[in-house]
Amino acid sequence: MAATGYGIVGAGYFGAALARALAAMAGARVVAVHDPRHAARLAGALGARVADTVEDLCAAADVDAVVVASPNWAHVEPVIAAARARRHIFCEKPIALSYPDCLRMVEAARAAGVTFMAGHVMNFMDGVRRAKALIAEGVLGELLFCRAVRTGWEAPQAEVSWKKKRALSGGHLYHHIHELDLVQSIMGPAVTVTMAGGNVAHRGPDFGDEDDLLLLMLEFGGDRFATLEYGSAFRWPEHHMLIEGTLGAIRIDLQDVGVELRAPGRRERFPLHRSPEEDADRTAIYRASTTDGAVMYGNPSLEPPLWLRGIIEHELGYFHGLMRGAAPLAEFAALTDGSAATAAIATADALTRSMAEGRKVRVAEVTGGPPARGRG
Ligand SMILES: NC(=O)c1ccc[n+]([C@@H]2O[C@H](COP(=O)([O-])OP(=O)(O)OC[C@H]3O[C@@H](n4cnc5c(N)ncnc54)[C@H](O)[C@@H]3O)[C@@H](O)[C@H]2O)c1
Repeated sequence: MAATGYGIVGAGYFGAALARALAAMAGARVVAVHDPRHAARLAGALGARVADTVEDLCAAADVDAVVVASPNWAHVEPVIAAARARRHIFCEKPIALSYPDCLRMVEAARAAGVTFMAGHVMNFMDGVRRAKALIAEGVLGELLFCRAVRTGWEAPQAEVSWKKKRALSGGHLYHHIHELDLVQSIMGPAVTVTMAGGNVAHRGPDFGDEDDLLLLMLEFGGDRFATLEYGSAFRWPEHHMLIEGTLGAIRIDLQDVGVELRAPGRRERFPLHRSPEEDADRTAIYRASTTDGAVMYGNPSLEPPLWLRGIIEHELGYFHGLMRGAAPLAEFAALTDGSAATAAIATADALTRSMAEGRKVRVAEVTGGPPARGRG
């Protein structure tokens, strides 16, 4: 079987990391790179060619799949171009900055019959997968509540990153869509949502225009709820997720890294990442830093830390496996047809509307469908 050929769109910090991970996999070749600034460097390192346009990259006969890791605002166009060229797609998060754009992308991939996988890496953490398996076994009983907190402090940087500008990133909630997606993958789609907050401590020329303090409330129906806190206006950084059921609870700690289960007759701690070493690596990085970890500038020479390389390998290994004919897992089905990512953006759009209009919003107001039914 010939190697699977990958085309890379966006060769910055993350696109380069994804490309390096793919290039190291058996049966994978990175054959083309498109990036207005950093293509030559990555292409040179991996023995690939530079593609001047997305269309050229997608049309090449040796490109079987396209990896989109351009800035958030620049995902829609290459995803649709890749689908039209009947190439499989892996797209970084957030896949788009609005629900209508998500629908266009999903429809293009569906019409072409190609895989459209969203880069929601948290789903590939070993500890998250184990937590979901325990929930499916009923160890927590009926789920009642999730709390996700991801907060830190943003200090002025030499240059204001695109990641801090709403028009380019979608804003803080969209850029950090991971937790919202994970909460919905556990609780099901939110039915009504509320959000309060704003840009409370980062105004002026040193900063972008995104919100730095966001307080979210999700209601799923059936007496099930979630709260999420996000932002870069928090001097005491926190990063964790708590899942509460009628019988037990699981706490996923992304700071003192690990996962803990408390259930009748059981109290267990297990790794979040692939090994205790990866968990310790992440714990040490958090201890040494109080900054908002979202800011990484367009520097393809920066390498993600060990723990992040580990989940990239899991995530892209899964995608590459699909390309090589491996059987898909039910666990990841909603990640590989764009539906989970679209549901996350629909909820983000409803939350945005809630804050703008100062009211509780039904997600169905965004999706235009009948009111979503929670699982309960
Ligand atoms: N899943 C994760 O944990 C994770 C982590 C970091 C970044 N990301 C995502 O990866 C994507 C890239 O982020 P990054 O950290 O690499 O940012 P970055 O700024 O380091 O890199 C972006 C790259 O895209 C290039 N670019 C700009 N416009 C382009 C266009 N129109 N077409 C193609 N390339 C273009 C830039 O020149 C730059 O090299 C973003 O969507 C981000 O949200 C995901």
